[in-house]
Amino acid sequence: MRPQDLSAALLELDASHRRRQRATLETPQGVDVVIDGEEYVSFASNDYLGLADHPALVRAIQEGVDRWGVGSGSSHLVSGHSLAHQQAEEALARFVGREAALLFGSGYAANLAVITSLVGRGDAVFADRLNHASLNDACLLSRAEFRRFHHNDLEQLEHMLQTTPAKTRLIAVDAVFSMDGDEAPLRELLALAERYDAWLYVDDAHGFGVLGGGRGAIAELDSRAERLVCMATLGKAAGLAGAFVAGSQTVIDWLINNARTYIYTTAQPPALAAAIPVSLRLIAEGDERRERLRELTAQCQMRLVGTKYVGAASRTPIQAFIIGDDEATLALAARLREQGFWVPAIRPPTVPENSARLRLSLSARHEPSQLAAVLDLLPAD
Ligand SMILES: Cc1ncc(COP(=O)(O)O)c(C=O)c1O
Repeated sequence: MRPQDLSAALLELDASHRRRQRATLETPQGVDVVIDGEEYVSFASNDYLGLADHPALVRAIQEGVDRWGVGSGSSHLVSGHSLAHQQAEEALARFVGREAALLFGSGYAANLAVITSLVGRGDAVFADRLNHASLNDACLLSRAEFRRFHHNDLEQLEHMLQTTPAKTRLIAVDAVFSMDGDEAPLRELLALAERYDAWLYVDDAHGFGVLGGGRGAIAELDSRAERLVCMATLGKAAGLAGAFVAGSQTVIDWLINNARTYIYTTAQPPALAAAIPVSLRLIAEGDERRERLRELTAQCQMRLVGTKYVGAASRTPIQAFIIGDDEATLALAARLREQGFWVPAIRPPTVPENSARLRLSLSARHEPSQLAAVLDLLPAD
């Protein structure tokens, strides 16, 4: 795009109700928030367990800053890999039951790292159509043949695996789909990966902390499977920031030697890493929080199922209210805001065309009455 074309392009986004704008949060992340000077009950955060401002995490970071200072000063391979990072990686690997783990500054960087390190030109990558944008970007960047199968369509995936001439294959999925809240059939996917000698790469950004007793959706998989590589973010249920990849020691060693988004970037602040073991303890002790989430999820599904707005069944804190039309979705989100509820309207290209939606994110800190109040404001049929 030439410099002189940008303003017109932005106006076009306005006209098609696709322009994105930021609102400014004036409180810590949570359920009761102030945004642009107004109070809201928020259903817009991925802080599912309500840990983002937990006193124990705040303290851990404060103590981490006292011990480590602020900046890491360098990439991991130069001099930025502190004992805090090392211990966090060991704690993460133990927590998810894998041989080794590797920290990243973000889930986006972790996805780019794994996929571009495991497949390249002449290889093939198979991805669910509803995967997160960062996985799609990683697949494109890898230069492998990039094939997308219909959402959770194992038959189509198997056909692709049967017919590909590529020797090195990788299947990439979200464990919990970020805009729908439904889940990938991980056991069946791992069986396909075994049968067709493929890697299985699972992005558990939204399952970690929530499913599997907090260990994530991947807790149900055989953690010894060499071909299984998992990623989870730490900026959602874990209440922090960053991400980690977990797998065999060999995979992690390969990433350390190959992954450009690992090698050519400054390490996360060590104080943040120092808080990771504390977050893992809170997650492990979080059964009550997860139980509250299950109750809220059931409350939400009861209201949605049977309406024309329901999408896939979701047992996770991501609950989609699918309207279709962009303008109508924005109008409903605006009406909810007038009533004091902050619920994001999600439009294409984040979701497929004609599937604009409200995405309600539940938190263990929501009161059932708060959820009931917002659900009452949604159209009934
Ligand atoms: C499924 C999924 N993967 C990856 C990411 C990227 O993680 P991060 O925000 O840590 O970059 C997100 C969201 O941000 C996500 O929803």
